[in-house]
Amino acid sequence: MRWIITGAAGMLGTDLVRLLNERDDDVLALTRDAVDITDPASVDELADADVVVNCAAYTAVDAAEEDEASAFAVNAVGPQLLARKAREIGARFVHISTDYVFAGDSESPYGEYGPLAPASAYGRTKAAGEWGVRAETEDYLIVRTAWLYGEHGSCFPKTMARLSDKHPELSVVTDEIGQPTWTADLADLIVRLIDAAAPAGIYHGTSSGQTNWHGFTKEIMTAYGKDPDIVGETTAATFNRPAPRPAYSVLGHDTLDAIGVAPIGDWKQRWQEAAPAVLADL
Ligand SMILES: NC(=O)c1ccc[n+]([C@@H]2O[C@H](COP(=O)([O-])OP(=O)(O)OC[C@H]3O[C@@H](n4cnc5c(N)ncnc54)[C@H](OP(=O)(O)O)[C@@H]3O)[C@@H](O)[C@H]2O)c1
Repeated sequence: MRWIITGAAGMLGTDLVRLLNERDDDVLALTRDAVDITDPASVDELADADVVVNCAAYTAVDAAEEDEASAFAVNAVGPQLLARKAREIGARFVHISTDYVFAGDSESPYGEYGPLAPASAYGRTKAAGEWGVRAETEDYLIVRTAWLYGEHGSCFPKTMARLSDKHPELSVVTDEIGQPTWTADLADLIVRLIDAAAPAGIYHGTSSGQTNWHGFTKEIMTAYGKDPDIVGETTAATFNRPAPRPAYSVLGHDTLDAIGVAPIGDWKQRWQEAAPAVLADL
């Protein structure tokens, strides 16, 4: 299997490339220096792949509020160019999307084909990317994820561990609910989808179950050897952030169930597995 990975130096891209190399697959790992996905001439050089996976994105959620055009270029134009190129070279196209495409005010898990209603600039650009991909190729797998953490790059568990070294107590929000998801597990799911010749469509690549940031932080402290009781409660209203965060980000896994591909598994069990690697290098 010949793979092309864009955004290969990102948190997810790094884990995906590592997994594919461990399998001895044929991998072309493209960082931003090698291929800028917003540049048609750069994307046009892609060739000889069975699968193209786009891990590149503009992920600065707050900065996107001030510069939606830049976010749109990376999150919407880039994926559309890549999807078109993938179709031209006869490759399947895997694109990573986000819970931010939904309104975030549901009380039950979002379905894969539920209505998109993004509340932020980042969410709007990612939703546009999904439509751009679907317009360009029939052979797409859109894999939405959320609450990602990983070994490579900054992420919530590393931030909270660092903060706990500086402060005796932490205050963490209870009114945002989601599914903490390990990039290594998402990489594994992407590979399992391709191995299973999954039908084109939308899949949700998140852990199962749900928690809030407060509950997740208690588990982070336990894994970091700290007392989980140092984690106090607060609400999102106390943080004045430019981009609204979804209050409810739980994604359902019906399409994975329908095709017989196992979802990632329970968030707490997966965190306990991931923690030694993720917290090894703060
Ligand atoms: N992190 C989360 O919690 C989260 C949640 C939901 C969904 N997602 C989605 O999951 C995917 C992977 O996220 P991640 O956390 O791995 O992101 P990440 O660590 O920010 O990596 C994104 C990568 O894309 C690269 N990139 C940016 N603009 C580019 C361009 N024009 N051409 C080529 N590469 C470019 C970045 O390079 P530079 O560093 O040089 O800019 C970076 O290496 C993204 O689609 C993201 O939207 C993430």
